[in-house]
Amino acid sequence: MARFYLTTAIDYVNSRPHLGTAYEKVAADVIARYRRLRGADTRFLMGNDEHSQNVYRRGRELGLDPLAYCDQMEEEFKAVWGRLEVSFDDFIRTTEPRHKAGVTRMLRQIADQGDLYEGVYEGWYCDSCEGFKQEKDLLGGECPVHRIKPKWLREKNFFFRLSRYRDALLAHFDAHPEFLRPEIRRNEILRLLEGGLEDISVSRSGQAWGIPMPGHPQSVVYVWFDALINYASAVGFGSDEALYDQWWPADLHIVGKDITRFHSVFWPAMLMSARLPLPRQVFGHGWVHHRGERMSKSLGTTIDPLEVAGRFGVEPLRLYLVKEIPFGQDGDFSYERFEQRYNVDLANNLGNLVSRVVAMAAKYCGGCLAAGVTEQTHLPAVANLAVRKYTEAMDRCELHNAVAAAYTLVDATNEFITAREPWVLARDPSKSVQLNQVLCEAAEAVRIVAVLLLPVMPVSAEVILTRIGDHTAAGERRFDKATAWSTGIERTLVVGPVLWPRAESGRQPTQNEKQEKFNS
Ligand code: MSP
Repeated sequence: MARFYLTTAIDYVNSRPHLGTAYEKVAADVIARYRRLRGADTRFLMGNDEHSQNVYRRGRELGLDPLAYCDQMEEEFKAVWGRLEVSFDDFIRTTEPRHKAGVTRMLRQIADQGDLYEGVYEGWYCDSCEGFKQEKDLLGGECPVHRIKPKWLREKNFFFRLSRYRDALLAHFDAHPEFLRPEIRRNEILRLLEGGLEDISVSRSGQAWGIPMPGHPQSVVYVWFDALINYASAVGFGSDEALYDQWWPADLHIVGKDITRFHSVFWPAMLMSARLPLPRQVFGHGWVHHRGERMSKSLGTTIDPLEVAGRFGVEPLRLYLVKEIPFGQDGDFSYERFEQRYNVDLANNLGNLVSRVVAMAAKYCGGCLAAGVTEQTHLPAVANLAVRKYTEAMDRCELHNAVAAAYTLVDATNEFITAREPWVLARDPSKSVQLNQVLCEAAEAVRIVAVLLLPVMPVSAEVILTRIGDHTAAGERRFDKATAWSTGIERTLVVGPVLWPRAESGRQPTQNEKQEKFNS
């Protein structure tokens, strides 16, 4: 069986998740659910990055031992991810023993190659990025991501011979054009590599919060060097050989564009030095903006994802993030736009389509559709094309294009119903076979749409499948079979409440209104 090992960035826990960090986890979750649906043995890893100085400071500000603070934040993060239906299989914390074992092992393997040496770092450091900065990285003397002036450091550190791996990295990029996606990030990193690489510090002195440098207890491992190793330590590197052999290398690292450099330069160089296989792909997604600014705690532009989900539901939010922000580019979030898209995509379009088909089957055929005859319309071809485009887009991580492909089938089915006028056929008893056929085809198209939307809206898509008469158990559903067109079966459709009642200028309909609307 094919296997798929997928990871997200691990989050700093000095603040709760915001819509920007949640975006990454939702997008990765869509990929994980898609891979499972395709039948791959999937492992989806997330986690928390705890050894940052900001995390340590935040714990202290709250009067907490840093580890106790991180324990609390683990609960908070997991509660948010659970509410957003993020289906991770494993969650790593960098304070766990399995991670420490992996970091220690990696340092030893890198040291064995002669790639670690002692030196003095003198230069800028941005606390928010936890990054060493060169003059050319700054904009007007400030970190361009966090808009703060970095501090000047002079420290005795251990260095990693990153410069030694520049040619090997260039060769890897050349031999594996798919290694870094999308193209815009690949080009940025290629330019960086062509400009040459300097060795980097991999330890910090005078700090107690972190993994001690083996043999040098007065220094800790630099937080980025520590954090990157989570992808390997989570699958047993340094602690469980069998697990490691089963899962490493990772198939896909999903990370934000601000940290693509760490993942596509430092991380593969570390692995090359340690003589370990490289991940197959890194995907650097864009940022969620709010009012024209990157959503970020340091810029004060964050939105709580649970507050957004509270407006129209978790799944409309997931759909918005995946459909409206081209994966790989930046995109904006505003409540106005969210409400507008909710009304168009869900209330008017998909929701209305499901209600119409189910209501007509109930009204004209008592909820039971007989097996249809061999398809005579264009709808099966539209469905097959949508499935093909969806699969191609998903396989390239073009999540927005995949959802758009599913929506071509929604639109075509709505048009099909309008053109075939089942309500006219229903008036003429001699047209009952045609009526059954039209409703069968519409129901089959809706069923395929629901299968395609399962990774994005797992709960609502299952509800649609049940209403449309597909009762396959969730775990049994396999993509190829589930997306193959078939009207040759009898089905029983089930009426239910309106899935997505129309929202009027920010006001949420009450449960009673939902029911009334449905009954009318
Ligand atoms: N701890 C590091 C990652 C280490 S991975 C070995 C880190 N943490 S973070 O909490 O600052 O960010 C976590 C992820 O969220 C990163 O991939 C980052 O790019 C992403 N995002 C942070 N703000 C974001 C937006 N406004 N929009 C989209 N993604 C955002 O970096």
